[in-house]
Amino acid sequence: MGRSSDPGSLPLEPFRIKVVEAIACPTREEREAALASAGFNLFNLTSEQVYIDLLTDSGTSAMSDRQWAALMVGDETYAGSRNFAHFLEVVRDLTGFPHVIPAHQGRAAENLLFSTLARPGMIVPNNMHFDTTRAHVLRNGAEAVNLAIREAYDPESAHPFKGNMDVGKLDALLGSSAGKVPLVMMTLTNNTGGGQPVSLSNLRAVSESCRRHGVPLYLDMCRWAENAFFVREREEGQAGRSIREIGRDLFALADGATMSAKKDGLVNIGGFVATRDAALAERLKEALIVFEGFPTYGGLARRDLEAMAVGLLEATDLDYLAHRIAQVRFVAERLDAAGVPFLKPVGGHGIYLDVRRFLSHLPVEDFPGQALAIEIYREGGVRSVEVGSVMFGDGASPHNGDSPLELVRLAIPRRVYTVSHLAYAADAVVRVYERRASIRGVRMTHAPEHLRHFTARFAPK
Ligand code: F0G
Repeated sequence: MGRSSDPGSLPLEPFRIKVVEAIACPTREEREAALASAGFNLFNLTSEQVYIDLLTDSGTSAMSDRQWAALMVGDETYAGSRNFAHFLEVVRDLTGFPHVIPAHQGRAAENLLFSTLARPGMIVPNNMHFDTTRAHVLRNGAEAVNLAIREAYDPESAHPFKGNMDVGKLDALLGSSAGKVPLVMMTLTNNTGGGQPVSLSNLRAVSESCRRHGVPLYLDMCRWAENAFFVREREEGQAGRSIREIGRDLFALADGATMSAKKDGLVNIGGFVATRDAALAERLKEALIVFEGFPTYGGLARRDLEAMAVGLLEATDLDYLAHRIAQVRFVAERLDAAGVPFLKPVGGHGIYLDVRRFLSHLPVEDFPGQALAIEIYREGGVRSVEVGSVMFGDGASPHNGDSPLELVRLAIPRRVYTVSHLAYAADAVVRVYERRASIRGVRMTHAPEHLRHFTARFAPK
């Protein structure tokens, strides 16, 4: 099965299809009407209005027969469910973190961690904050600082680990901000920067810097198995090791992690926060009881914990991962052949179109990323998401203060689409590229203060 991720080869499915779900492509007229009624925000579209949904890889995975079977052995006991015991055993075994607190998804885990540790005047460094992570840091009055290496901001750099952190900058920040940094976070893979991996050696250097300054290191481990796949493929001395072995090395360098199992847990809902710190775990559990529920279910049905335990292990399977990454590369190669500009090397969970080169005639005031996502939907009923000035700006500002990147992400759901689906979606993007010169910008007609990409509304310029 190793061949399925080689360049030029078809992504060979290490599964066959047992259940199908009907989908249909709306007509061009229906798509136009849908855009207008959605306020040109693709988050407002219904599933019937979308043919190929590349909005997100989060919570959109197809579960396996084993996961569906796991749901049937749900033990819906309020306290002390068997499913929690199994879930705990799996997470401890994969990560080595002794204390595991379930939560209904990643941002719930972030809420527990940041509402417990972050205070006004504090600074939280990350390689690059994901939007919800940033929102939780800000919500608790702290400052969110991105310290990714310089290459992370260059869409054409071929650096193999663009998720890496600039350790020199981290060291300087920790040196000048003693007592102000409650934790350092590393996002595996770096979603905002294009699904780019962090190397084991960079994580080791980050960990050493944190130790020197007495600051705990936490991983945002949403896509850790994909990260480990790249470590295995690209880092010296790592070829031939299993994903779980590499994972154990990654986790050994950290003090804890937050997890959205909607990604590399292959479930539709679920997450957790894990830590080595027993005293912190007690505080997190107190917050959990207020926000999510009792510590042996954390806002989930117990059957969900069982499906998560199975999914977390399936996500470490090499055949599964090779196919997954091969699907992403298949789309990338098709776009590349037509000259479509995207962030390279292609990441683990999607293709990030480089809007600045794609729509080079549109200024940032025209929200070009949003304009591009709209056109891709208009062209083929394919839904993508803007990851740029709409997602990371605040209020009515057209500017994304933090990042010079302006991207549109085509996220590939896990085990959901066939090669034909992916070829269709890529070809729709190519047709938009061919008529790019005629594409106009948009203006924002409703501008929420934070996380505005979810609810903003737009109109064509
Ligand atoms: N951290 C990262 C790196 C993420 O990508 C996400 C979610 C979260 C945290 C929050 O997890 O959704 O379970 O609450 N990312 C999704 C995406 C939404 O589309 O990239 P959540």
